[in-house]
Parts: sequence; C-alpha cells; structure tokens
Amino acid sequence: MNSKVAIITGASSGIGEATAKLLAARGVTVALAARRLDQLKRIADVIKAAGGQVSVHQVDVIQQGQVEQLVADVVKQRGRLDVMINNAGLMAIAPLSLRKTEEWDRMIDINIKGPSLRRRSGTTRLPEPAIRPLCEYRFGCWH
Ligand SMILES: NC(=O)c1ccc[n+]([C@@H]2O[C@H](COP(=O)([O-])OP(=O)(O)OC[C@H]3O[C@@H](n4cnc5c(N)ncnc54)[C@H](OP(=O)(O)O)[C@@H]3O)[C@@H](O)[C@H]2O)c1
Repeated sequence: MNSKVAIITGASSGIGEATAKLLAARGVTVALAARRLDQLKRIADVIKAAGGQVSVHQVDVIQQGQVEQLVADVVKQRGRLDVMINNAGLMAIAPLSLRKTEEWDRMIDINIKGPSLRRRSGTTRLPEPAIRPLCEYRFGCWH
C-alpha cells in the first residue's frame, strides 16, 4: 500500500475515520472528505502526529461539482489517485408507517445519487493512468 493515494468520503467519523487512520498507518496518503471540516482537521492532526500523509477536503457528495473538484485537487496535489472509498452515507432508521419521506429523499441523494456522481467524476475527470487502478469499494471496481 505504500505510496498509494486514497480518497475516503465520509472520513469525518465512524467507519471512514477508522479506515483513514488504518490506511495512513500503512503508508497510504489519504485525502479526507466530508462536510464537517473541524472534524476532518481533528482527524488529520492525529494522522499527521503519527507520521502520516493527509489532506482535508470539505465536500458534500450530493454536489457533483464539489466531487469533481475533490478528485481534481487530489490528482493535482499528489499526482495520482489509486483508490476511492465511497463511504459517505446516511442510515436513518424508522418504521415505514411513519412515512418520513424527507429522510428517504436524503438517503437516496447521499447513498445512491452520491456514489453515482462520484463514479461519473472518476471516469470523466481522471487521466487514463490514474483511472486504471481505481477501485470503488462500495459498488465494486470500475475501469
Ligand atoms: N456502522 C454500521 O454498522 C453500518 C452498517 C451498514 C452500513 N453502514 C454505512 O456505512 C457508512 C458509514 O457508516 P458510519 O457508521 O461510519 O456512519 P457515520 O459515523 O454517521 O459516518 C457517516 C459519514 O458520512 C459523511 N456524510 C454524510 N452525508 C454526507 C454528504 N452529503 N457529503 C459528504 N459526507 C457525508 C459524514 O460526514 P459529515 O457529516 O461531516 O459530512 C460522516 O463522515 C454509511 O453509509 C452507513 O450507512 C454502516
């Protein structure tokens, strides 16, 4: 994993935070993306203190332009992108009978449309040498 570069969305807490710390400890340069910048900075400080390479990016994955900018920034800064972990997500749990349709809409936007935008961004914006090794953990690999 040494010298690889990974974007982790939803890196400001939970599984994304743990994944970022684990990859950084194994020599991966990690780009942390989420909406809560303060949280990302706190995690980045921990990674840096342990000797890891890290950058932080305030991104809302629903916004295609922000996702494209994220990919472009990381490729520009690091010269490559090997892995994109599409972890950002929302799991609002409630009985169907409550019909919390706004929550359903948010889940569809973040969990379904979000990764679709990220895939489009990955396939349209990256230079060919960076695309080939890309692997999207949540929905399988693309080439
Ligand atoms: N924990 C479990 O047992 C479990 C089980 C099955 C599936 N999952 C799924 O795994 C993923 C991570 O779970 P978790 O437990 O680690 O949840 P979590 O602690 O709530 O983390 C969710 C992450 O997604 C980010 N996020 C949410 N909406 C976003 C948006 N619009 N743009 C950018 N980032 C966004 C949040 O960051 P910001 O709020 O800072 O943007 C946060 O970093 C979720 O998709 C969850 O549904 C979890």
